[in-house]
Amino acid sequence: MAEKLVILGAGGHGRAIRELLRELPGFAPVGFVDARPPGPEMLGLKVLGDEAALPGLLAAGVRTAVVALGDAAARAAAAARLQAMGFALPALLHPSAIRAASAAVEEGVVVLPRAVLGAAVRVGRLAIVNTGAILEHDVAVGPLAHIGPGAVLPGGVRVGEGALVGAGACCRPYVTIGARAVIGVGAAVVADVPEGAAMGGVPARPLPS
Ligand SMILES: CC(C)(COP(=O)(O)OP(=O)(O)OC[C@H]1O[C@@H](n2cnc3c(N)ncnc32)[C@H](O)[C@@H]1OP(=O)(O)O)[C@@H](O)C(=O)NCCC(=O)NCCS
Repeated sequence: MAEKLVILGAGGHGRAIRELLRELPGFAPVGFVDARPPGPEMLGLKVLGDEAALPGLLAAGVRTAVVALGDAAARAAAAARLQAMGFALPALLHPSAIRAASAAVEEGVVVLPRAVLGAAVRVGRLAIVNTGAILEHDVAVGPLAHIGPGAVLPGGVRVGEGALVGAGACCRPYVTIGARAVIGVGAAVVADVPEGAAMGGVPARPLPS
């Protein structure tokens, strides 16, 4: 029987996850919860209110959740609240994603359509691998990181905890992107990026703050 699941977050990433769940027959989404509920219904699912709805869902047998928040700190905090209540946070991979047999994903990871996880790739807990991103052999993505749509990480790239690699960005093989760094859309990262840095352009340089 399909596992009942609640989606925490009814924004853009929540909508992407709602569509992902249509392709995963093992899960039966019961609805969204959101700090600011956008309305009674979204994409054919109920919006059940804010997190005050969660205990009732647990009591009704919903024991599984997905955190659909793009912001890494908000995602971490929400995951901690959900786990403290007893919700499980499974990894969700779109069926069109390609995962090598030796690629591993941790709990709460979301992999969107047509992403590719190559040989010996590691994706840490609660990370997002967005639509069409390519993670080549030996790439290591830290917890809570977000690899944007169409980003290309060649062999051996390391992405630190909570870093964001913007849409369409690419990297030289084996570079390290530090924790909480932000790589702008379309950047070409040719050297290691320090923790917390914001880089963009081709080649990537520090962005004006
Ligand atoms: C890098 C980024 C976070 C900067 O956003 P921001 O903090 O709001 O910064 P601003 O838009 O105010 O831009 C600041 C400066 O950086 C420049 N800049 C922003 N993004 C840039 C990029 N990708 N490449 C080159 N320059 C960039 C801006 O032109 C601006 O320069 P200026 O001050 O000389 O005019 C954002 O542009 C970005 O690329 N986000 C990634 C989004 C993404 O792909 N998410 C995936 C989820 S689906």
